[in-house]
Amino acid sequence: MWQVERVEEASSTNALAREQARGGTPDGTVIVAARQTGGHGQHGRAWHSPEGGLYLSIVLRDLDDPHLLTLALGNAVADVLEVAGAEPRLKWVNDVLVDGRKIAGILVEGESTGDRFDFLVAGIGVNVNGTTADWPTPLRGQAATLEEILGADSCIPDLESFLLEAAEGWVRKVREGRNDDIVAAWRRRDALQGKDAGFDPDGGDAPTMRGTVRGIDDDGRLLLETERGVEAFAAGRLFA
Ligand code: BTN
Repeated sequence: MWQVERVEEASSTNALAREQARGGTPDGTVIVAARQTGGHGQHGRAWHSPEGGLYLSIVLRDLDDPHLLTLALGNAVADVLEVAGAEPRLKWVNDVLVDGRKIAGILVEGESTGDRFDFLVAGIGVNVNGTTADWPTPLRGQAATLEEILGADSCIPDLESFLLEAAEGWVRKVREGRNDDIVAAWRRRDALQGKDAGFDPDGGDAPTMRGTVRGIDDDGRLLLETERGVEAFAAGRLFA
C-alpha cells in the first residue's frame, strides 16, 4: 500500500509531501527523512528533528471523512511504542506521551477545493534515539526519547516498518468508517481522563480556560467540564 521515498534531510517531510501531492503523487506515497531542518507541529510550533528520530509524512487521497485521522494515527504510534516496550498515553488531540513527556506527535494537513480535500498529508514524528538533555530549553523536561524511556537504543528502520504497518490498519479503519474502534482504542490510552487541565480553543500559547477533562465524544471531540457544564471542542490546545 505504501510507496516509501527516503531523503537524508528535509526542511519538513510534510512540506515535501505536500509539494509532491500538488504535483500529483499518488495516494500512499510516504516521505521519510533522517532529519529535518524546519520540522513543524500543530499551531505553528517547531518540531525538533535531529538525527535519531523517525520523521515521515504520508500522502492520503480520497478519504471521505478524515475527522478521526489524527486520533487513528495516535493509536498507530501507540501500538508501535507498546511493541517496543513503552507504555504510551495519548493527549488530545495529537500528542503521544510516555511518563508524562512527549515522545511523538502527529500533524495532519490538507488542501481542499470547495468542501472536498484534494489530498491530506499525515506527518508523524517520533523521538527515538539520543537524549533530550541538549535539546532547546522549552523541550527539556517536557520531551522524551524512546532511548531515555527504555534505557537502550532502538532500530529506526524496524520501528518505521512497524509504524507503517500499524498506520495501514488504522487508516483502513478511517476509510471504512470504523469510528467506534478508533475512539474506543484512543479512550483506553487517554492520558488526561478526569484530570484538571488548561485549554485554549484558539490553540494559542497559554490557556484561556480551565476544566476537568472528560475524555472524547464519539466524534473525537474533547470533552471539558467547566462551571458551564461539559462542552465539546473540535479544535484547540490542552495544557497539562
Ligand atoms: C505536534 O506534536 O504538534 C506534531 C508534530 C509532527 C511532527 C512531524 S515530523 C514529520 C512531519 N514533518 C513535519 O514537519 N511535521 C511532522
